[in-house]
Amino acid sequence: TEFISANDLSSLMDVSVNEVIKVCLNMGMFVSINQRLDAEAITVIADEFGYDVEFLSAEEEDTVIEVEDNEEDLQPRAPIVTIMGHVDHGKTSLLDYIRSASVAKGEAGGITQHIGAYDVMTKSGKRVTFLDTPGHEAFTAMRARGAKVTDIAIIVVAADDSVMPQTKEAINHAQAAGVPIVIALNKIDKPGANPDKVREELSVINVLVEEWGGKYQSQEVSAKTGLGIDDLLEKVLLEAEILELKANPDRNAIGTVIEASLDKGRGYVTTILVQTGTMRVGDIVLAGPHFGRVKAMTDHRGKKMKTAGPATPVQVLGLTGAPQAGDKIQVMETEREARELATQRQQLAREQSMRTKKHITLDEIGRRL
Ligand code: GTP
Ligand code: MG
Repeated sequence: TEFISANDLSSLMDVSVNEVIKVCLNMGMFVSINQRLDAEAITVIADEFGYDVEFLSAEEEDTVIEVEDNEEDLQPRAPIVTIMGHVDHGKTSLLDYIRSASVAKGEAGGITQHIGAYDVMTKSGKRVTFLDTPGHEAFTAMRARGAKVTDIAIIVVAADDSVMPQTKEAINHAQAAGVPIVIALNKIDKPGANPDKVREELSVINVLVEEWGGKYQSQEVSAKTGLGIDDLLEKVLLEAEILELKANPDRNAIGTVIEASLDKGRGYVTTILVQTGTMRVGDIVLAGPHFGRVKAMTDHRGKKMKTAGPATPVQVLGLTGAPQAGDKIQVMETEREARELATQRQQLAREQSMRTKKHITLDEIGRRL
């Protein structure tokens, strides 16, 4: 792989590019000003000028500013919750109920659109943000990309069924991520529901619920009738209180991409979760290998927003491409800076995909021989 041009290398070393070219010529290498150099060439040339070169991985190479916040600038923020569990145990129904109950209470008439993340107001007047990930695969994929977005996991288990393989997996993933768990014993309205059997099965895998002297909060709920759901949310909020979640709203926003798509009329539509700071219409943002200016922001009811503070999910218009779920998004000071970093990342991605292609080709030849 080539990394930087002779020109860039010379400015990093604070010498003229002509000097670099001359040194190269002396060593029998003919390089032009804008020629990109590979690791070996860079090391050799830098050595001639008395420099040691350190090659960092893609993430480390990213010189994205991350300001440490002062304790006094931090303010409480809403918890970000992911619902996980076995297939058909009622994850979608539970989230649908929570969301529709909150829409009915507040902004009636809004058409709920799927945007992958929602925030709701509980009866007690506290905000909770939900990530609508289609199962723990998405949770794991985001984690693998280095995105830490979830504060609390609700593990749904159907009370008329059992602790299933995916229930265990979801619990394992949440525990591996160090995310507190609240158990929702769903479908309690069903005649065949037997929540004690599920509690028993949970205890076998070391998830002992509070009622039985353990440390895990659990709540019997029905995503169909709504029974117990307010209590479930209060238990989530209790968990959130223990975590003392805080963020600084008075800084440039940093967040994570939840999903992105291309809309015929509106261009690239990106759902992001602001994690710290406040995002504003007009902000210049860098999101993975893409950048842009925030043209408009809406919440999941399609309501226009001018600002989005910490733990707020928001749909953003104005990016020049669709970043991947789990990509970081952050507000930059200048468009030039955002474009440069985006271009750098695109270049890196291209190089990586070229490497992969080359690898595949060699492998295929090997098999054919
Ligand atoms: P996947 O996304 O496929 O993994 O399923 P899910 O976990 O999202 O389950 P979903 O919400 O789609 O519910 C599965 C089925 O159970 C649907 O037919 C729901 O109507 C039903 N269901 C969910 N919750 C309840 C409940 O509390 N009571 C009853 N009676 N049925 C429920
Ligand atoms: Mg579902």
